[in-house]
Amino acid sequence: MNLDSLKKKISDLASNAKTEFGSANDKLELDNIYRSYLGKKGEVNILLKSLGSMPQEKRKEAGKLLNNLKSDLEKNYAYTNSLLNDKANLSRLEKDKLDISLPGFSSRKGSIHPVTRTIRDVCNFFEQMGFDVEAGPEAEIDYYNFEALNVPEDHPAKDMHDTFYLNNEGLLRTHTSPVQIRTMEKSEAPHRIVCPGKVYRKDSDLTHTPMFHQIEGLVVEEGASFAQLKGLLNDFLTDFFGEEVELRFRPSYFPFTEPSAEVDIRWKKNWLEVLGCGMVHPNVLKNVGVDTKKYSGFAFGLGVERMAMLKYDIPDLRAFFENDIRFLDQF
Ligand code: DAH
Repeated sequence: MNLDSLKKKISDLASNAKTEFGSANDKLELDNIYRSYLGKKGEVNILLKSLGSMPQEKRKEAGKLLNNLKSDLEKNYAYTNSLLNDKANLSRLEKDKLDISLPGFSSRKGSIHPVTRTIRDVCNFFEQMGFDVEAGPEAEIDYYNFEALNVPEDHPAKDMHDTFYLNNEGLLRTHTSPVQIRTMEKSEAPHRIVCPGKVYRKDSDLTHTPMFHQIEGLVVEEGASFAQLKGLLNDFLTDFFGEEVELRFRPSYFPFTEPSAEVDIRWKKNWLEVLGCGMVHPNVLKNVGVDTKKYSGFAFGLGVERMAMLKYDIPDLRAFFENDIRFLDQF
């Protein structure tokens, strides 16, 4: 082969290779084309090998031309390769594109359980009146649940049918009144407290569940009177149920208060009891070492589910504990 025909061959080869590189659709195709020109058995190497048959003086120049061809094609390959990379990146970006106008998955919004809500509302009212919120244990002993509260040994409330007993002395509190005793034991009078919490009774039907909630209130101050108690509960109930609420105080009996009363609320023609109250019995104050010459007290205990039933017009008590989202979502 002479130099001129080699030059012609080189220029054909260069233009063919570049056209082919340019037509490659992806990296795989491009690399195949690369090997067919620049690989071990590729066109450029075949030409290089043919140099042996050239006269000595031309060989050097031919070698130079072929090396130029080689580096020219390498550059073209690299350039085409980077174009293909860009194309691949672009199409991946295109595929991964987020459509932020699509509607999302909505998550369910929780709401406050009517029992919790009622407890918060009641405590808020009394906190504004200067009461502290206290808590006590749900597993109690006889002394706090009954004895210290002046409940005689043979009182019907102590009957096995009402109280869940844990062992000889242990029991689940049947009311929140034991928190009165615990509070007066641990700190000195005067007291103004409300104590919300769970209570337990062996009772289960349409209007009773074995666990329910109460809020206890206790005021021990110099000169605390029944008139104050009545005024306070009146204010509280009209705040909670609204001005139009109809209520009545009715004489009643509790071992831990004297005199005692119950408060009823008019609900669709019927009077429904919502709380018990009274002047703290002197025996109770004596049991915790309060000076009855100086202090007197009044107390009340209300049923949370009862209050919530009346306020939100819920006829069936069990709805509070079934955790049906359709019911709970309404609050
Ligand atoms: N502990 C009573 C009950 O569970 C409610 C009660 C009545 C609480 C009168 C009181 C009170 O503090 O003075 O039925």
